[in-house]
Amino acid sequence: MFQISIATAEDAAEILALQRLAYESEAQLYKDRSIPPMTQTLESLITEIKVATVLKATEGSSIIGSVRATLAEDVCLVGRLMVDPARQGRGIGTALLRAIEDMFPQARAFELFTGSKSDGNIRLYIRHGYVVTGARQASQEISLVVLTKHRNTDAAETGQLQALLSRVGAALDEFLKFEHPDSLHPGHRWQRQLDIPLPKVGVGIERVTEELIRDIIPNGTAIPRPGFSAFITTGGTTAAVLAATAANVAAPQRASLTAFNLLEEVSLKWLASMCGVGAMQGIYSSGGSTANLLALGAARQCAFEQHGRDVAAQGIDRPVAVYATAEAHHTIQRSAGVLGLGRRAVRAIACDGQGRMDPEDLRRHIAADQRAGVLPIAIVANAGTTNTGAIDPIRAIGELARSHGIWLHVDGAYGLPGILDERKAPLYEGLELADSAIVDPHKWLGASVGVAATFVRDRELLLRAFTQEPAAYLEGTIEQTPSASRVIEHSMDDFGIPYYDYGVELSAPSRGVVVWALIREIGVEGMRARIRRHNDMAAHIAHIARQHPNLELLLEPTLSICCFRYVHRNVVDLDRLNRQLHRRLVRENRNLPSTTVVGGALALRPCFIGARATLAQADSLVEDVLRIGAEVAQELSR
Ligand SMILES: Cc1ncc(COP(=O)(O)O)c(C=O)c1O
Repeated sequence: MFQISIATAEDAAEILALQRLAYESEAQLYKDRSIPPMTQTLESLITEIKVATVLKATEGSSIIGSVRATLAEDVCLVGRLMVDPARQGRGIGTALLRAIEDMFPQARAFELFTGSKSDGNIRLYIRHGYVVTGARQASQEISLVVLTKHRNTDAAETGQLQALLSRVGAALDEFLKFEHPDSLHPGHRWQRQLDIPLPKVGVGIERVTEELIRDIIPNGTAIPRPGFSAFITTGGTTAAVLAATAANVAAPQRASLTAFNLLEEVSLKWLASMCGVGAMQGIYSSGGSTANLLALGAARQCAFEQHGRDVAAQGIDRPVAVYATAEAHHTIQRSAGVLGLGRRAVRAIACDGQGRMDPEDLRRHIAADQRAGVLPIAIVANAGTTNTGAIDPIRAIGELARSHGIWLHVDGAYGLPGILDERKAPLYEGLELADSAIVDPHKWLGASVGVAATFVRDRELLLRAFTQEPAAYLEGTIEQTPSASRVIEHSMDDFGIPYYDYGVELSAPSRGVVVWALIREIGVEGMRARIRRHNDMAAHIAHIARQHPNLELLLEPTLSICCFRYVHRNVVDLDRLNRQLHRRLVRENRNLPSTTVVGGALALRPCFIGARATLAQADSLVEDVLRIGAEVAQELSR
């Protein structure tokens, strides 16, 4: 329907005239529509056109290919769009709009004004990315001027959040119905659709939004499902998503005096108080791994300072030891490696049958190291092991630590909030002896992944362990005269509490607002109810497993992890049976626990922490295990 004749470079005079016309029409348009005029001047537009490569096409040739080619080269296009006279006055503007949408998928978000001008001109105006202006001439010819990207505007969309987030939000709500198949469902095509070569030319925010909604969100993870109980991870609750999104936009960095910055500290205090370490000061980092690293960094600093050495500045100069059980999270070894202590410095302290540290074995190791002149750095006690949820005897370990002047670190990444369940609180006895503790709000508390907290008695120690040398480009930006006359009247007058000096991240998101939102929404009582419910779920499965002839409880649950397995008198290789059962269970996509090994036996290991997991899910898991277990047992006993 539309045809274009592209001007040749020799047609410069005509191009400029055409452009002038276009620009004037546009200026008029701005005036009429009260749209703020572009900051570009006509001269700058003309300059652009002059340097542009102008494609040549014969009169009447199709516009599509030419225009795409032109855009791919990122040059300007000036041309005339010919309109079929028969269509004049019959929805021509809409038709033209469609054609342009086709030509410029990356410039979808534009406004079109057509028609009703007294001069009979059609005017098109694309706000984002490209400028198109058209004027309908008496000859039924529409002049189309397409300029390359507006030079004063970034190619990226930086607004429209209400419209776009509401569409993405709707897609996410749909995702949360969990009616979609697993991302690797038969016939899936998203890998091919997404694994494309580096795009030279962008497709624009509209296409990005469409692809997010169509190809990416429906092919997300199983983690937020109510029946997902694998590992120790879950999806964020709505409050977490809202707060994280707000922070992404309104405070992408935690530093500087904003409401977000204040909430870092407020929420750290809330969290400490809620988790039984209210006397401590905290810092957020990305996860339990970094949180443990920071705590052990503080422990290392403290141990060496007692010997007059600033280990952060000078490094270690003697053999050292960290005491932890084999059940401790493996990030303890990695932290020891990163901190220059060496992974082998981590002593493997024996556990009892419940996976709890044996204080007597700890005592023996410390004594042996003392005799060998090894400097003890820290004892790591677990408040909820990753494997089974075991809680080490904190008081006994803490007293030992005190008597030897050794730092006590409590890894409560998963289990520290378990203290809220009054029935479990006695297991945390002695927590007040800890020198550091960690908890991951992105586990039991429902934050989206990326939020962990390290608590220490005195953050100054963290400062000495992790401080960076002052930098002109950072602190130098801020007037730091410690006088009473220093005026703080802008959020950028101060960075606030220097969290960036207490850990390993300089740039870091505002995480406090997420924890604030989680606790503010449901309060301590809401958290307590969740934790009790999840502990009940593990206890419920344990109870059934104790009674049922085809189930075996492998370990009494401490918190919300239950290790059990399916058994059958006709099957000898129960590990094989449970492995196959587990694979089928996961494929059904309803109940998704992980497995572990307890006392040498392969165990099904649901760990309930997700806000969507309700008591009914525990029953549903047991039903599925019994059903699939019977099928597999029958197959194996044939
Ligand atoms: C006890 C414990 N500590 C540390 C971590 C590491 O946490 P993250 O995965 O957040 O780095 C985990 C993870 O599950 C854990 O269970």
